[in-house]
Amino acid sequence: MSIEALEKAIEIVGGQSALGRLIDRDQKAIWAWINTTQKVPAEDVLKIEAAVDGKVNRYELRPDVYPKPTPMDKMRVVGGVKLNGNIKISGAKNAALKHMCASLLTDEPFILENMPVSLRDVAMLSQILEPLGVDITADKETAIVKLHAKEIKSHIAPYEFVRKMRASILVLGPLLARHHKAEVSLPGGCALGARPVDLHLKGLEAMGAMINLEGGYVKATAPDGGLKGADINFPLVSVGATENLMMAATLAKGETVLRNAAREPEIVDQGEALIKMGAKIEGLGTSEIRITGVKKLHGTTHSVIPDRIETGTYMCAVGLCGGELRLQNTRLDFLSALIAPLKEAGMIIEQEGDDIVVKRNQAKIKGVDIMTEAYPGLATDLQAQFMTMLTLCDGAGMISETIFENRFMHVPELVRMGANITVKGNSAIIRGVDGLKGAQVMATDLRASVAMVLAGLVAEGETIINRIYHLDRGYENIVEKLTAVGAQIERIK
Ligand code: EPZ
Repeated sequence: MSIEALEKAIEIVGGQSALGRLIDRDQKAIWAWINTTQKVPAEDVLKIEAAVDGKVNRYELRPDVYPKPTPMDKMRVVGGVKLNGNIKISGAKNAALKHMCASLLTDEPFILENMPVSLRDVAMLSQILEPLGVDITADKETAIVKLHAKEIKSHIAPYEFVRKMRASILVLGPLLARHHKAEVSLPGGCALGARPVDLHLKGLEAMGAMINLEGGYVKATAPDGGLKGADINFPLVSVGATENLMMAATLAKGETVLRNAAREPEIVDQGEALIKMGAKIEGLGTSEIRITGVKKLHGTTHSVIPDRIETGTYMCAVGLCGGELRLQNTRLDFLSALIAPLKEAGMIIEQEGDDIVVKRNQAKIKGVDIMTEAYPGLATDLQAQFMTMLTLCDGAGMISETIFENRFMHVPELVRMGANITVKGNSAIIRGVDGLKGAQVMATDLRASVAMVLAGLVAEGETIINRIYHLDRGYENIVEKLTAVGAQIERIK
């Protein structure tokens, strides 16, 4: 294997890595971190040469380490079938990504089981972590990912990657805690609105970090001797800030108290993994988390919790299309706030061992009202799917979105397919219609994209979903999973 050209290396980081512009075999430019120290099987290595500071360096790059050209594939869905059969639920994306960041906290191997290995977000975060010094091996067959940050080799997470995935701000806390300095690009706004990270930064400052914003980067240094415990009262509940500060506090001196902390199952899962690594954490799952810093964390093995949002998505799909699905390897207790309105709408949902059986045994679901809230309230990440389900309800339902300012992007697309939806501020009224009609649609975030897939499953005729890039970020093998339960769905180039 060889690569046509490396146009220019633009930055050297710690003498080990360079940020260069690569041209792949299709002549598409891709930005990539190139890590000279990576150990990879010879047959998988892409060899390239780069002139850096007038000196020619040889680099080796494993194919899955560099970003492949953005797939602008489309999805074709032909609607009208009921869904029947089994779907195996993957490990939770929003827990997996945080665990990966936590690998920076220890110089010993951290082994994660039940990982959603083929998600694009997992690959993308790997690209950020590897240059920082995390050796990562991922096995799709066993769903096991091994992360080993023996030594921190760089403390910079560049804009090129952070802009694509906000979750990469979560390397900030661990880097500061273990390495005492970090430089992470500010993620900026996103399709869901402004989404600031002020709570992350204020919390770290309270722990003694010096933080400067320069050139779009957060440049942070810990005080001499490392971060110090602090009493932090969040003005609003933030999943990411709770996680970032909990990780940072594990290696800080003294006790940190996080008040008005987020209580999501993914945070509890992360905390439990950190405890296995030697962290001292109390109050997980409550709004007051107490962390007593320790000198060092060690390696461990942890199995990632099932993805409650993927589970809820397939439940809404049954509500919309009818049929009966057995969702395997997942948990009902994470979804109480969804189950109540689904049952009120007329669905039957039961936990059977590690599976959830969900069915709709009436012609139409009833219209119900929901409001998104921080956990244990109904997840904003299920709002678009629930709304899609309501498009065919008997009567009407109202949805209030209280977490993000701009999370109704799916509405105009659903309306184009024949839905009757009126939006007023952060609320939407969905009046049930008799049917949806297939159309060309596009979505700009992960959950809005999957809502288009659900709409396509029930719409008359063909629905073409453009820009399915987002789906690959968060839904493992969605085409295979839905095909196995009767859906007519395919990827088209
Ligand atoms: C996490 O985002 C999830 N992402 C999101 O899932 C999810 O929608 C969200 O939590 C809410 O549940 C990951 O876990 C990777 P927040 P996060 O901090 O942590 C405001 C998906 O589809 N805020 O809880 O970024 C913020 O603007 C994704 O999988 C501040 O004002 O969410 C928002 O309005 C999308 N300042 C609210 O708080 C801050 O410093 C909640 O955001 C931080 C947040």
